[in-house]
Amino acid sequence: MRLDALDPSGIPTHIACVMDGNGRWAQARGLPRTEGHRAGEEALFDVVEGCLEAGVEWLTVYAFSTENWRRPREEVKFLIDFNEEILLGRRDELHERGVRIRFVGRRDWRVPKRLIRRMDEASELTRRNRKLTFTIAFNYGGRAEIVDAVRAIAASGVKPEKISEKTIAKHLYDPEIPDPDLVVRTSGEYRISNFLLWELAYSELYFTDLPWPDFRREDLFDAIHHYQERDRRFGGVAPGG
Ligand code: IPE
Ligand code: IPE
Ligand code: MG
Repeated sequence: MRLDALDPSGIPTHIACVMDGNGRWAQARGLPRTEGHRAGEEALFDVVEGCLEAGVEWLTVYAFSTENWRRPREEVKFLIDFNEEILLGRRDELHERGVRIRFVGRRDWRVPKRLIRRMDEASELTRRNRKLTFTIAFNYGGRAEIVDAVRAIAASGVKPEKISEKTIAKHLYDPEIPDPDLVVRTSGEYRISNFLLWELAYSELYFTDLPWPDFRREDLFDAIHHYQERDRRFGGVAPGG
């Protein structure tokens, strides 16, 4: 789908992507799984460009889940190093394009200090940018995020009857991020895999069989097109319905 085929007044504010299918993409070509992750970089930055072109203001991508530590040690190491490499290699161009880089996820002992430093540098460098906020979910789990929010609320000593949905939302990793309007998952898997559990209560979900390394901005525009055909009711009734 081309960008000009979309309704410019109906562009989602926040798109979240589960970048899935890298390993299978590589295996189908007789390559090691890690080559699939490498090939996913082009898809990711084409999607960033697509968001800039379309005027999407928030993009969140699932880079590494709290469950991904279960993978073979070499793959985990590759993913950590690769994320660091991408941050170093891309942060200046993202900065020039007006992209604000942020991170969500648990900063526990398993995440190397050096990667955390790179994350902080990239966030600091780009913090004044407003064109697109690009959030990378690393060592992220939706349940872990809710647990961490509950811990912070409990530690604040607030009275239980004062706790509302707003209280929880305010204690998420990045309370500024609006709930996603559209969640895209590639590679033909129809599940959420612990992504943004609290935030996607009313998100529109879009699934495609394309593996992440083959996904490009035109495919993102397809997803937006489908989104524009949806009727979001938020529990109410459609106007005129
Ligand atoms: C998604 O691709 C990337 C990460 C989870 C980091 P996968 O590595 O899950 O690829 P498949 O699903 O095994 O094909
Ligand atoms: C979700 O994909 C996590 C990321 C894309 C980072 P997985 O490949 O880890 O999810 P499952 O195991 O298929 O549910
Ligand atoms: Mg997968």
